Amino acid sequence: MSKRLDGKVAIVTGAGAAGDGIGNGRAAAILFAREGARVLLVDRKLALAAATQAMIAAEGGESAAFEADVTKSEDCAAMVADAVGRWGKLDILQNNVGIGSSGRVPDIEEAAWERVMRVNVTSMMLAAKYAIPAMIASGGGAIVNISSIAAVRPRGLTPYATSKGAVEALTRGLAADHARDGIRVNCIEPGPMFTPMVYAGGMSDDMRARRRGAALLDVEGTGWDIGYASLFLASDEARYITGVVLAVDGGVLLTTRIGDGDRLGRGG
Ligand SMILES: NC(=O)c1ccc[n+]([C@@H]2O[C@H](COP(=O)([O-])OP(=O)(O)OC[C@H]3O[C@@H](n4cnc5c(N)ncnc54)[C@H](O)[C@@H]3O)[C@@H](O)[C@H]2O)c1
Repeated sequence: MSKRLDGKVAIVTGAGAAGDGIGNGRAAAILFAREGARVLLVDRKLALAAATQAMIAAEGGESAAFEADVTKSEDCAAMVADAVGRWGKLDILQNNVGIGSSGRVPDIEEAAWERVMRVNVTSMMLAAKYAIPAMIASGGGAIVNISSIAAVRPRGLTPYATSKGAVEALTRGLAADHARDGIRVNCIEPGPMFTPMVYAGGMSDDMRARRRGAALLDVEGTGWDIGYASLFLASDEARYITGVVLAVDGGVLLTTRIGDGDRLGRGG
């Protein structure tokens, strides 16, 4: 039976995750491989990418771990060259790397601001800069950028929110510029997912419950939810979709301060 990504070659940045946790990048990488793609697992910590590779190998999938810091131009060039050298082409780029950064503008250190822009935005531009010529040579491709609902619901995370707003603008710019090259570029806005990124530093049961409760569906989001959405956007099933921002948030963006589930029919 044919699989959804049969014959495709993919790069996933930030494909590692702490321990056996399932981050957004690791989930996407596992699902891409499960659906037949050969996946280059890029992480600045090689051991974390190697752990993802072992998970994929255990399912009979094909992948390779590659150490790179995607904030560096030469590393982005090297990861694309490795994928093409290893498997002959490039079809999919999953731009997953991102770091958090909180604070209000009067308190922000300029170095911290520049760091979050570099890690969250410049890295995606650099990865695309080298991936796009390889995709054109391969007859087209698909790029999936990971944003956050913080782009439209900032909540004291102004540096992070600004960077993710830029990721969404970058998505639209790339989509417009490269549609005629056969390259689709889409974006996912995760809500509060329970991934190592957010629980690695410790998370209380109360905080976990509040994050879960923020979603109208009252379901806890996981890396798999982002992985499955990425799989769809990366696959040919999404061949007529480009430049979109897809919220994967259990309905968080539908909530209002008036009160979840309240009807507004009491004269208010
Ligand atoms: N978890 C959430 O609640 C949530 C919500 C909204 C958006 N997101 C977004 O999801 C994405 C990541 O999710 P995740 O759970 O996979 O995160 P994660 O923190 O587990 O990161 C995955 C990997 O990225 C690697 N990495 C970090 N900086 C790197 C760099 N410069 N070069 C190469 N690798 C690097 C880390 O070593 C790690 O193994 C981010 O863009 C994040 O902003 C997450």
